[in-house]
Amino acid sequence: MPSNSPADRVPTQDELDLLIYQSRIERPVKMKIPELCREERLRHIIFSGQFTADRLEDLASTADKIRALSRNREGQDFLLHLLNNKRAMLYFTQPSTRTFLSFMAACQILGITCNEVRDPTTSSETKGETRFDSIRMFSSYFDLIIMRSKLARLAESCAYLMNDLAESGNRSVPIINAGSGADEHPTQALLDIYTLQRTFQFSHPKDSPVSTRFEKLQNESPGLVKGLAHKVYGFCGDIGRGRTVRSLASLLANYKGVTLIFVAPNDPTLALKDDLRRRLTDRGVRLVEVESFEEHVDGKSVIEQLDALYMTRIQKEHNNSDDEAHFAQLDLSHCKLTTRLVARMKTYAPILHPFPRDQHFGEIPPEIDDDPRAMYFRQARNGMWVRAALLATVFGVEHQISRFFHDEYSEWHNYNDDQALTPPKHV
Ligand code: NCD
Repeated sequence: MPSNSPADRVPTQDELDLLIYQSRIERPVKMKIPELCREERLRHIIFSGQFTADRLEDLASTADKIRALSRNREGQDFLLHLLNNKRAMLYFTQPSTRTFLSFMAACQILGITCNEVRDPTTSSETKGETRFDSIRMFSSYFDLIIMRSKLARLAESCAYLMNDLAESGNRSVPIINAGSGADEHPTQALLDIYTLQRTFQFSHPKDSPVSTRFEKLQNESPGLVKGLAHKVYGFCGDIGRGRTVRSLASLLANYKGVTLIFVAPNDPTLALKDDLRRRLTDRGVRLVEVESFEEHVDGKSVIEQLDALYMTRIQKEHNNSDDEAHFAQLDLSHCKLTTRLVARMKTYAPILHPFPRDQHFGEIPPEIDDDPRAMYFRQARNGMWVRAALLATVFGVEHQISRFFHDEYSEWHNYNDDQALTPPKHV
């Protein structure tokens, strides 16, 4: 069993670094949210709790418009000039492929110039500079800082630093959390939600695993409605340490009548953490925790009742020395998807994964990739569009995008509306 550190141990430099923001960090998220806005507009993106269903709807709609405009030269040129007066710093001191590159591509779509620091040993942190001095320096040269760190509260602390700077009349820029330790990954959750929004519109042939018409699907699955509400979502794998799971589960709590089923070994490291369980239950979400897809809930096996499945990898990089030996004793086979399990899933249920998948562990074997329900590659591409929408929103140009778009298209749809109009074919 992983051991707890003794209370009297010497704090690490990382912990000491964050100490100045400790009292603000310890407040409930609800109290922090207003501070992350400026005049009602999202400024720093730190927690998924900042996003209501309405905000998610607006983001998806902006993302769809950017995506549609990007298909022709005129639209691309319009987007390229929107924010070409802005510069972004991508400060990623933890490994990243998709988040880093999709943020970079999102910046490029909107004309934002990017620069990066990925290896802190090449920055002045090796000369004893604190992270906060580094961040303040970035804010002198750039208009936005997108950051990923193994330190759970660093991005949040940087947002407070920026707010304090603004209050004292100094230069201050928005902070975007692109993954904070094992805690949150709000922008991944945004792209997961965007993927689900598109899938559960049941109208885009590429986004929905079934090309069957919605009415026909309703015959097969009575009670099926468009949109994210009233659905059963499955999460499988490293629930305890998966920051994407934490952020996405919190966003799903925005929708009525959702059930979240967590499939993980009954183990304190891998199973759902108490704080998240409490947060979700307080918001009225129905939670079910099982150890295998085969378990029966309400008289039916879990795998057969999922409307969507979110697979995750075992987060080995967070293992401490005890974990290795401890995990070797656990049966992790239930954290793997197989073609036989997929065959029993609902025909329309998308399979998502934040990626990377672990080829050695094999939570999603490649033979599943050809199944129309395998949505993970499309999901990753959605990240670029939704991140571009987020940047446009943070810099306040989303209405310009809408205006330009509506000059081109006369009708549009609403993801929360059952009577959604069909989007233009070329989106
Ligand atoms: C995730 C992350 O970094 O938390 N990856 C990503 O950003 N797409 C998931 C993971 O690493 O397992």
